[in-house]
Amino acid sequence: MASITVSHLVKQFAEKRAVNDINFSLGEHEFLVLVGPSGCGKTTTLRMLAGLEPSSEGDIQFGARRVNDIRPKERNVAMVFQDYAVFPHLTVYENIAYGLRARGAPSAMIAERVPKAAKIFRIDHLLTRKPRQLSGGERQRVALSRAMVRDADLYLYDEPLANLDAQLRYQAREDIMALHREKQRPSVYVTHDQSEAMAMGDRIAVMRAGRIEQIGSGADLYERPDNLFVAYFIGTPSINLFDVEIRNGEVGGLFAYSSAVSLRVAQEHEAALQPYLGKQVKLGLRPEDLHVPRLATFPVSAENQVQGVVNVVEPSSAGCAVYLSTLDESGKDYVATLRTRMPASYLGKEVPLAANMARAHYFDPASELAIRAQVTD
Ligand SMILES: Nc1ncnc2c1ncn2[C@@H]1O[C@H](COP(=O)(O)OP(=O)(O)OP(=O)(O)O)[C@@H](O)[C@H]1O
Ligand SMILES: [Mg+2]
Repeated sequence: MASITVSHLVKQFAEKRAVNDINFSLGEHEFLVLVGPSGCGKTTTLRMLAGLEPSSEGDIQFGARRVNDIRPKERNVAMVFQDYAVFPHLTVYENIAYGLRARGAPSAMIAERVPKAAKIFRIDHLLTRKPRQLSGGERQRVALSRAMVRDADLYLYDEPLANLDAQLRYQAREDIMALHREKQRPSVYVTHDQSEAMAMGDRIAVMRAGRIEQIGSGADLYERPDNLFVAYFIGTPSINLFDVEIRNGEVGGLFAYSSAVSLRVAQEHEAALQPYLGKQVKLGLRPEDLHVPRLATFPVSAENQVQGVVNVVEPSSAGCAVYLSTLDESGKDYVATLRTRMPASYLGKEVPLAANMARAHYFDPASELAIRAQVTD
């Protein structure tokens, strides 16, 4: 059963339409991540869910109840704000206890829960301090503890880890997920970091300019992006995009052709690309789908190799990221993430990489929509 349903939600600030007709529903235990570039309407969406910002149009339902006109306090929502607002005049302990006290929680409950929440976020040694005596990261963890200490019907997080260093960020992520599993309540988590979204979300909604471009599991968004924006936004490094023309091969089949590449279209993509014969499309190849030919797990031939010159090799824990440019005049930059090390002697050399064309993506350059075979189910 969906516990939260948002339909045709709009927020109009004077001339600015910050949220433009968004729709989603949240399962009872679901952790939804909203991700998108700065200014796309993430905070505004959360503030409408919390009741801090009136909506201009549309409905927000908690269960069967429409809550648009219900005051924030009566919605029983816990929210961690982007600017980790904490009360400067209260100690860390009182900051964490604030929401519980405001709702008249018994003192025994407060005495039990506050130290527990502080311990989870590793600020239990700071309970008597005031916020001005804390670092930004510690203040952020106070704000997290304050939200998580409560039993709310909906948890909202607005970029709560932005001020933490990489290690703490990773720990805090785990802590939030552990508490989420314990509480089993719907949660909406905002970030502009797609890797955080992929790591945390049961589902991810990718927003752009007030709209949800696509909503689905991390694997859905990565494997089957609906459009260029989602394809480019999800995955790091970003997907490589080549402008190509769809042509007939000399001995059958279709080719994605440009001055930089000539790649045979995988059989499973031929039907969808047939209408584009003689036309331009955008070919997307994820960095992970370019391989050292002798290590490829699929047959390699002249029809699925991209030739380029190596500009930069960046070692990573799993292998390396290789930045190349194509050999033609366009010198188009692209990147491959390899599961092997590439010696520095390859710098400046020409290297063929094998493209796993079964995993290629194609987009209509005008509509920017994915070109896909119609799925009938
Ligand atoms: N009170 C307001 N009055 C007018 N415009 C606003 C107001 N609040 C937000 N906006 C505008 O609405 C748009 C969405 O803002 P919002 O804060 O929701 O973005 P965001 O996705 O959270 O961005 P960020 O990642 O930078 O936090 C922005 O263009 C912003 O300038
Ligand atoms: Mg914001």
